[in-house]
Amino acid sequence: MKVLAIESTCDETAAAVVENCGEGVKILNSVVASSVLMHQKYGGIVPEVAAREQIKSIIPVITESVGEDKDSIQGVAVSFGPGLMGSLLVGVESAKALSWAWKKPLYSVNHMAAHVFANWIVEDKNTEVPMFPAVGLVVSGGHTDLVLMKNTKEWEWVGGTRDDAVGEAFDKAARLLGLPYPGGPEISKAVERVTVQMKERFGSKFKLPRPLFNEDSLDMSFSGLKAAISKIVTTLGSVDEKTRDVLAWEFSEAVIEILIKKTMLAVERYKPKSVLMAGGVAANKQLRENLKMAVEGVGEVKFFCPELRYCGDNAAMVGAAAIIAPREVKPVNLKPDPSVTTV
Ligand code: KG4
Ligand code: ZN
Repeated sequence: MKVLAIESTCDETAAAVVENCGEGVKILNSVVASSVLMHQKYGGIVPEVAAREQIKSIIPVITESVGEDKDSIQGVAVSFGPGLMGSLLVGVESAKALSWAWKKPLYSVNHMAAHVFANWIVEDKNTEVPMFPAVGLVVSGGHTDLVLMKNTKEWEWVGGTRDDAVGEAFDKAARLLGLPYPGGPEISKAVERVTVQMKERFGSKFKLPRPLFNEDSLDMSFSGLKAAISKIVTTLGSVDEKTRDVLAWEFSEAVIEILIKKTMLAVERYKPKSVLMAGGVAANKQLRENLKMAVEGVGEVKFFCPELRYCGDNAAMVGAAAIIAPREVKPVNLKPDPSVTTV
C-alpha cells in the first residue's frame, strides 16, 4: 500500500509518500519545512506564528511530496494530536479534503505513536524490524514516556516524567545558559567542546542532582535539574563560555544517566525482545550510543533508534504508523485532539 502522510502538530510542516516493504515501511520521499528559526528570538514556540507558517507551507510541501505520483496513492494519513490546535487543524483538514477528493481511505495517527513507528522505517526487505514485547522510550519536547508494547496496537504506559519533558528540560537549561532555542542540539554542541582537561578541572565543581535515580520506580523528574542550573548561574553572577559548556555537559550527563537507568529498569521488569527509542531527543548522540551499549549489554535484547532525520518531527513516521498499525477513520469523524494521551 502506498500512503501520503501529513504531519503538522507543531512547528514542522511535513509530507511523505511511503509504502510497505517486507515487515517494515520504505520511504519514497519525505519533505519537511520548519518554522523553528522564526521562534528563536522568542526562546520557544509561539503557537500563532507556528499555525500561520503551517498554512503557508502545507500546499507547497504536499505538492512536492506527491509530485506526479497522485494516481498511485492508496490512502492518506495524518497526525491528529497531541500538538498545538492551530497547527493540527491545518494538517488534519488538508488530509480530510484530499481523502474526500481522491476517494481514498483516511488514517488517523497519534503523533507520539508515530515517533515510535519511525523504528519500522527500512532500507529494504532485509532490514530488521523490532520484535515484541518491546519497551519504548519516547523523548521529545512535550513527552517523556516509557511504554510497554505487546504488539503494534496494545501499548501500556509504564512510566515517565512527573514534571518537565526531557526536551523541554534541554530547552530550558540552554536558555538559562544563554544558548539559543532549540536547546537540545545546542547543548550537544557544547558537550562536544568540553575537553578531558575541562572535565577534570571543573567537573566536580558543578555536580547536579539525579532526581529519583535510586527509586525502584519508572518515574522520572527533570525540573529540579533546571532549578539547580538556575541556582548555580545566579550564584556565579556571570557565566563564561568554558563554565557554560561544562554546565551543559554535566546537565546532559545527568539527563542521560536518568533515562538509561529508568529504561534499563523497565528492561529488567518486562524482559522485552527490543528496546525502541524515539522522538526529537533521540537525536542526541551520547544518549543513542550509551543506551545502545546498555541495552545490548543485556544479551538477547535488540536496540532500535531511527535515523537522525526521522527522530524530529517528520511525516515519514506518520506514514509508517498508518501502514504498521492502521486506524481508518471517516473524514467526517476526524478532529484534531491537542491533548490526546492514549496511543
Ligand atoms: O520530537 P520533537 O522534534 O518535537 C516534539 O514532538 O516535541 O522534539 C523536539 C525536542 C526539543 O526539545 C529539542 O531541544 C530536542 O527535541 N532535541 C534534542 C536534540 N535534538 C533535538 N535534545 C537533546 N539532544 C539533541 N541532539
Ligand atoms: Zn514530535
